[in-house]
Amino acid sequence: MQKPLVAGNWKMNGLAASLEQIDLIGAGIDDALRAQVDVMICPPSILVAQAVRKANESSVLIGGQDCHAMASGAHTGDVSAEMLKDAGASAVIVGHSERRADHGETDVVVKAKAEAALRAGLIAIICIGETRAQREAGSTLGIVGSQLAGSVPPGTAGQIVIAYEPVWAIGTGLVPSVADVAEVHAFVRTQLEASHGAEGAKMRILYGGSVKSSNARALMSVPHVNGALVGGASLMAADFLGIVGAYR
Ligand code: PGA
Repeated sequence: MQKPLVAGNWKMNGLAASLEQIDLIGAGIDDALRAQVDVMICPPSILVAQAVRKANESSVLIGGQDCHAMASGAHTGDVSAEMLKDAGASAVIVGHSERRADHGETDVVVKAKAEAALRAGLIAIICIGETRAQREAGSTLGIVGSQLAGSVPPGTAGQIVIAYEPVWAIGTGLVPSVADVAEVHAFVRTQLEASHGAEGAKMRILYGGSVKSSNARALMSVPHVNGALVGGASLMAADFLGIVGAYR
């Protein structure tokens, strides 16, 4: 199994002054913790290059939050995976539920973006997860299975990270039970092994949705939970370090 990954998704939050949080995060991670867990911050794309310069002084990795499927071209306002790579990013989140909902991104689009990430030499952090209505209808595993089948390209465990984020748990303070997280993560593992063989057995599967320092240890100890994708609690170093510290 690979080293776990705790990644912070700042979403559309943060100005240049916020980058000092990266210094504080770096300062809060000692060698022992660094050996246990990879730590990443995904700031808005406009801050990626500056964040990389900050992070170079620490062990914090920097990622993007989205990319276009094409390397370049007439796509006003978009950012390509190659541009993120050029700015020093090591990963990009694709298919976040906010992108799927706000920008109508389908599995086909998400897969193309994940392929772009791999093409550019970035880790693709591919997000999946059911809505509240889907969970209440008992279709969670069906939804997660079809998102995996449709969104995840061929690739290695070093290139592909899956983030299971129940849509109803994002930004709400609601968290599925440990048993529910265990069920979905075990299912995702089985699906990845079926589709990606030995690489699928090693791919990191993150849990995301209202992860906080108070619940991180319980969530991170669930089998097949190999880290976290953290939104709100990644904006302040103290909160984020409380989550990373679950791996101490
Ligand atoms: P949250 O967001 O931690 O604020 O719930 C998680 C995410 O959207 O990745």
